[in-house]
Amino acid sequence: MSSRKTAVVVLAAGKGTRMKSDLHKVLHPIAGRPMLLHLLAAAETLSPERTVVVTGAGREQVETAVAPVGAKIAVQNEQLGTGHAVMQAREALAGFAGDVLILYGDVPLVRAETMRAMIARLNAGDAPAVVVLGFRPADPGAYGRLIVAPGSDRLERIVEFKDADPEERAVTLCNSGLMAVRGEALFALLDRLRNDNAAGEYYLTDVVELSGAAAVIEADADEVAGVNSRGELAGVEAAWQRARRAQAMADGATLIAPETVWFAHDTVLGRDVTIQPNVVFGPGVTVADGATIHAFSHLEGASVGAGAEVGPYARLRPGATLAERAKIGNFVEIKKAEVGVGAKVNHLTYIGDAEIGAGANIGAGTITCNYDGFFKYRTKIGVGAFVGSNSALVAPVTIGDGAIVGAGSVVVRDVTADSLALARGRQEERGGWAKRFRDAMTAKKKGQ
Ligand code: UD1
Ligand code: MG
Repeated sequence: MSSRKTAVVVLAAGKGTRMKSDLHKVLHPIAGRPMLLHLLAAAETLSPERTVVVTGAGREQVETAVAPVGAKIAVQNEQLGTGHAVMQAREALAGFAGDVLILYGDVPLVRAETMRAMIARLNAGDAPAVVVLGFRPADPGAYGRLIVAPGSDRLERIVEFKDADPEERAVTLCNSGLMAVRGEALFALLDRLRNDNAAGEYYLTDVVELSGAAAVIEADADEVAGVNSRGELAGVEAAWQRARRAQAMADGATLIAPETVWFAHDTVLGRDVTIQPNVVFGPGVTVADGATIHAFSHLEGASVGAGAEVGPYARLRPGATLAERAKIGNFVEIKKAEVGVGAKVNHLTYIGDAEIGAGANIGAGTITCNYDGFFKYRTKIGVGAFVGSNSALVAPVTIGDGAIVGAGSVVVRDVTADSLALARGRQEERGGWAKRFRDAMTAKKKGQ
């Protein structure tokens, strides 16, 4: 890798009409993260000196989204072509000397490795002025065609489909649109672009022929897939998920039915984690070594400790923190709560804004009543406490260490350690009453 500096220009001024959306196209999420941020995260690994996003309509949305990553915004008010779009970055790149990597905001899955290969080719061998990322799609359709000098990687020109003759259209090597250009040459080349072509646009692709010194490298078709519609968005999501599942397994997780597991962009899995079928990870989940996520569970913003078990049919919401060997069973929802080492919440329960001590056992149907319609309150359940089934714990409330709450209790006051709390109607028994009742009713019915 050269010591030259890198700048990244992301084109994102296209209208995205086919998405039929109020959300800017490049902000539609893949694995829970805007596609533009996937791309910027990969580009960031090249430690670019500057990153510029060229945008037009909906620029405020894009600006807000990229603010945390420190990218500059350049505005293209009229979409006069890809070449014209890059020209809008002139001011943001003023004084920059180095290599410029041009990416598309709607081509989100390009790997950092591929970006580095483009830059590397720009600085290797004959040191071309331009490197274009080509690919061979199953259907070359309306992609620009790459005209390569026979027997070399020297790219002579790019012909847009609209401008291509039948012989050029028969070429299967296509333009992904991504390009690396020697910064010193870029704007001089762009200044020479003309729009006397079939689309009446300033084509970025014309810098290839104008430079007289361009090379091509090839990428996998999956990697340069673009998003223009919701259908293509789903296709790119599927490709991302496929790759992530393969990575999870390569890293030592067991996925019994990988095609049914959905990861978020930031899911972290330890070793020997088992994920059963139909599990969905929202953002912010960490699963430690040896934990098992049983079928049909949904996790988001949660941390699962080593050897813990979740589900089947469990829901972990943001702030759910399970310590080692904790067990969360079927139809249990946990929100903003710490569940201690080896504690069990096995059936039909809601635990919110709570802390459950190590080894505690929470019976079926227990509810922490954490909300009065205005404020949220915390429930604290001590180490080794036992909460009987169908109890309502009205927060704020503390169940002491080792305490037992009788089944069906509505607990409104703190329970001291090692006490039994019963907060339910006292049971009475009337001997023989049921039989007398039945006999009387049977007689009455006969007499009718
Ligand atoms: C472009 C390439 C074509 C390539 C194809 C790959 C040109 C002239 N053609 O064609 O060779 O095969 O991409 O998908 O470059 N954009 C702007 N401002 C504009 C125009 C476009 O920001 O004025 C952005 C779009 O948001 C998009 C990207 O540039 O991210 C590509 O634009 P698009 O209109 O899809 O280019 P194509 O005509 O498909
Ligand atoms: Mg296009």
